[in-house]
Amino acid sequence: MRAGVTDVTFVTSNPGKFREARAVLRPYGVELAWRRRSLPEPQADSLAEVARAKIDGVRGLAGYVLVEDSGLFIPSLNGFPGVYSAHFLTTWGFGPVLELLRHRDRRAYFRTVAALGRNDRRWTFVGEVRGTIAPRPRGRNGFGYDPIFVPEGWERTFAEAPAEAKNRISHRARALRKAGRFLAHPSRRTSRRG
Ligand code: IMP
Repeated sequence: MRAGVTDVTFVTSNPGKFREARAVLRPYGVELAWRRRSLPEPQADSLAEVARAKIDGVRGLAGYVLVEDSGLFIPSLNGFPGVYSAHFLTTWGFGPVLELLRHRDRRAYFRTVAALGRNDRRWTFVGEVRGTIAPRPRGRNGFGYDPIFVPEGWERTFAEAPAEAKNRISHRARALRKAGRFLAHPSRRTSRRG
């Protein structure tokens, strides 16, 4: 390994997630490699369970392995779509959520659980960002629910903002900066066991 550089492999089928993670982790001396692959996701009640199952599903990679699971949670819909975010978006798109929110509280948050693994050890890191659901989709950047999510204190959606702006405050960036700090300070490695 080169001096001062930590090699980490991010296993994800989502190129948007990889681009964001690479930019967020670079300042921590992390050289992020990409293994483009979807991992088995169990039916589970929490992102943490899914993230742990994903990391347990990774085989044959040396060094640190990174996976993550994210979701959009809308409290006025009892947390929906939450852990079902991916399935719901693929099946239905934005329409039903926008319709359901016409007469409900539009507050929402994104959450990411990132998991790092090395040999048989695991560490997890959580990040969240609060905001509201826009009345209709706006913007072309990002991916997933970005066109309908307006972060707190913003007027534009994540999809209307440049990648750097999303990376300053996003759920994923917040989880990954915790992972980055952990990777940059080997002495703390035993204190963040997940
Ligand atoms: P998963 O972590 O890939 O299972 O993501 C769950 C769902 O949330 C997918 O539909 C993703 O596209 C979406 N999603 C995850 N992260 C983000 C994000 O940063 N912005 C918008 N949508 C996201």
